[in-house]
Amino acid sequence: LAQGFADDLLTTLCLATDAPIAIAPAMNRLMWANPATQANIATLRSRGILVFGPGEGDQACGETGPGRMLEPLQIAELAMAALSPGPLLEGARVLITAGPTRERIDPVRFISNRSSGKMGFAVARAARAAGAEVTLISGPVALDTPPGVRRIDVESAEQMHRAVQDALAGTDIFIAAAAVADYRSPAPAAQKIKKTDTSLELKLERAPDILASVAADARRPRLVVGFAAETERVAEHARAKLVDKGLDMIVANEVGEKLAFDTDDNALLVLWEGGSQEIARGPKQRIARELVGLIAEHYGRRGQARG
Ligand code: CTP
Repeated sequence: LAQGFADDLLTTLCLATDAPIAIAPAMNRLMWANPATQANIATLRSRGILVFGPGEGDQACGETGPGRMLEPLQIAELAMAALSPGPLLEGARVLITAGPTRERIDPVRFISNRSSGKMGFAVARAARAAGAEVTLISGPVALDTPPGVRRIDVESAEQMHRAVQDALAGTDIFIAAAAVADYRSPAPAAQKIKKTDTSLELKLERAPDILASVAADARRPRLVVGFAAETERVAEHARAKLVDKGLDMIVANEVGEKLAFDTDDNALLVLWEGGSQEIARGPKQRIARELVGLIAEHYGRRGQARG
């Protein structure tokens, strides 16, 4: 690369592109330290080629030191940060709910749902990468907090509602990706419910609708975005929720046995007043970046409308 040779497909491609180029070197520690290598790396850097790593540690040759390739996930993160279209949401304060909620029945049992939180966490990561200040309020999930994101863990719909109310002031964009329980037990039993009868009836009451309450709040963020998980007539049901809950945008996805929940793939239909856009099936991380791009576009428009 440093000499401009084009004697295979990869180096030919590198000479014949105007796309950004990043390299992730991997080699023996002495090879990496060699002045010839270092001079070549300096040449590449001076031409604007990005150099990811190398890391330090055990090497394939059995030695230990600098020259180890970064982990694939680290390379992916660096590439996404370097190649993303810039800080679309710089300075915006974004509040996101994610994951399921758990509604207690007694000290050992609860009602919950199949949400994994992956979509909400991917949106939080993408919003952060777009320059936003992100607070993520999450139900019980088995996911790591995306870097740079403030995370608040909750369990029930009631706790999530309270956490959202506490964090709402100053929020510019609210994104409700959580699968919040619609019903809860009005009085969870203090002791474990024993099996005595042949059947058991559970009485449930409505849980607070967090999204609707945010849309109706005096501190309403400039943009309020909901999700709609539907098993049928997706667009129709989602548009009804957009209107009923007073939202600016709704993100619909079809859910079912094999779709959406706890998978790494998703496909979305995004609706707003007078328009819609599909986001084609793909990994949740990519889908989330496209969604955040769309949200940023609408957020910008609303800013202009208000002058
Ligand atoms: N939501 C919420 N609080 C609730 C229920 C839902 O904030 N108690 C939010 C979800 O985070 C999502 C949107 O409302 O953004 C839609 O949730 P969904 O469960 O699909 O719709 P519901 O309004 O509950 O309607 P239904 O269950 O009849 O489909």
